[in-house]
Amino acid sequence: MKLLLLSVAALLMVVGASAAERILSRRTKRELASPLHVGGIRDPFGSYCERRGGCCPGRDDLCTVPYLDTICYCDLFCNRTIADCCPDFWGHCLGVEPPFIGNCERNGNKFFSGQTYKENCNLCTCGITGRWECEQNACLMEPDVIHAINRGNYGWNAANYSQLYGMTLDEGIRFRLGTQRPSRTIMNMNEMQMNMDPESDGLPLYFNSAEKWPGKIHEPLDQGNCAASWAFSTAAVASDRISIQSMGHMTPQLSPQNLISCDTRNQGGCDGGRIDGAWWFLRRRGVVTENCYPYQPPQQTPVEVGRCMMQSRSVGRGKRQATQRCPNTHNYQNDIYQSTPPYRLSSNEKEIMKEIMDNGPVQAIMEVHEDFFVYKNGIYKHTDVSFTKPPQYRKHGTHSIRITGWGEERNFDGTSKKYWIAANSWGKNWGENGYFRIARGDNECEIETFVIGVWGRITMEDMHSHHHQHRRRHI
Ligand SMILES: *[C@@H]1O[C@H](CO)[C@@H](O)[C@H](O)[C@H]1NC(C)=O
Ligand SMILES: *[C@@H]1O[C@H](CO)[C@@H](O)[C@H](O)[C@H]1NC(C)=O
Repeated sequence: MKLLLLSVAALLMVVGASAAERILSRRTKRELASPLHVGGIRDPFGSYCERRGGCCPGRDDLCTVPYLDTICYCDLFCNRTIADCCPDFWGHCLGVEPPFIGNCERNGNKFFSGQTYKENCNLCTCGITGRWECEQNACLMEPDVIHAINRGNYGWNAANYSQLYGMTLDEGIRFRLGTQRPSRTIMNMNEMQMNMDPESDGLPLYFNSAEKWPGKIHEPLDQGNCAASWAFSTAAVASDRISIQSMGHMTPQLSPQNLISCDTRNQGGCDGGRIDGAWWFLRRRGVVTENCYPYQPPQQTPVEVGRCMMQSRSVGRGKRQATQRCPNTHNYQNDIYQSTPPYRLSSNEKEIMKEIMDNGPVQAIMEVHEDFFVYKNGIYKHTDVSFTKPPQYRKHGTHSIRITGWGEERNFDGTSKKYWIAANSWGKNWGENGYFRIARGDNECEIETFVIGVWGRITMEDMHSHHHQHRRRHI
C-alpha cells in the first residue's frame, strides 16, 4: 500500500515538462553534489527516511526528504556514494550501523563524524578524520573578555548575559543596535545657542531626571533582535518630554512599533533607521502609545516588519487623529501624540547638562564597541582588552540612546570620574536596571557628538482632555 501511494505520488510529479527537467537537473546535480557527509552530518539522530514513511528500492530520484537547506535521499542508490543518504538511511532502511569513519571525543563520550555541538556562538562538527572542527566566529559574550574586564581596573564590571549568549559579535552589531549615522547635512545642523555662563551655571554634581520628575521618566524597553534603536530612543525621549511638559497630565509611553511599521520612508525598520526621519514622523504623523500599538519583537531572522496598522488624519491646527483602532484590541485610547521639530544641542557637556536639567532627557547617538555588550555596572569606557586580538573581535556600530542625568564618582587619589546616566533599550536585566553610566566630558564613544532635544506638541485642550484618563474614545 505504501509503495503504491509512493508511485502515485511519483507519477503526479512526473507530469509536465518542467517536472521532467527538474528530475534531469537533479540527476546531474546528484552525481556532482558535494558529499553531504564530508561537510558533516548535522542532526545525525534526526528522523528523515522514517518520517517520510519508508525507503525506495533501486534508484529513485524522487525519493527525497528536506534536509537542512537541501535534500537527502532514501533510495538504495544513495548507498553507492554514501554522500547523499539521509542520516537515518542506514539505521532505518538497511538496519545497519552507518559506515562513518572517525570518532571524536568530548567529555569522555564518543561521537561519530557528522555529529555537532554548539560552543557559545560556534558550531563544532566531528570531522571525518575524527577531529572536532569548530567555526571561528567572535562571540558577543567572550568569557575571556568578561574575565579581563573584571580582573582589570577599568572602572566598570562585565557580565555574561544569557539572552546574548550564543550570538556572534556580528549578529550583536547587526541586530541589537540600529541607528544610521546622521547624514552630513544633518550633522551640520545648527546647534542651539544657549545663554549660559558655563562657570556660574549652578549645575549640581549629580542630577537624575527620574528623581526630579518622578513618574514621568519611562523605563527602558527591550528591542530584542531588532535593530531599531532609532525608533526606541526617539519614542523614549518624546515620551519623557511630553510627560514633563504636560506636568504629568499625560504620561504616554510612545510606541516604537508604530514607528518601525509605519515610518517606512527611507527607514529600514528592524534593519536600522535614521533619527531625523523618526522625528519627522513624530512631528508630521504622530504615534500612539505602546499599550495601543504594542511592540512585537521579531521571532526569527531575517526580520520581517509588520504591516502598518495605524494611520492618522489632520484635524486642523496641525493636530491629528487616529483613523484606526488600536492594534491591541483591549485598548481604546488611540490618541495621537506629536512633537515639535527637534533641536540639536552643542557638544558642550555643560550645555547638555543644562538642557537635561531644564527640559528633560535628551537623545544621543553613540558608537557601540564589542565590550559594551557585556557591561554590567560602573562607569563605562571602551577598554583595550580586545586590542591584541584579530580584527574580527574588534567591531563597532552606531546606536542611539537616551541620556537622563549625570554624576561624579570620587577616586582614591582625590580626582573624580564624571559620568552620564543613560537608558539603553536592551531590557531591564541588562546593565544597571536597563541603564548604564558612561564617562562624561571626553566624548566617550562619540556620545556628545550629536545630541537632540525636543518639545511635545501640547495645547491647553490636551491638558484638559487627557486629564480624564479613563474616557474611552471610539472611531
Ligand atoms: C550498501 O549496503 C549494503 C548493506 O545492505 C552493504 O553491504 C554495502 O557495503 C553497501 N555499499 C556501499 C558502497 O556502502
Ligand atoms: C554564560 O552563560 C551561558 C548561558 O546562560 C552559559 O551556558 C555559559 O556557561 C556562561 N559562561 C560563563 C563563562 O559563565
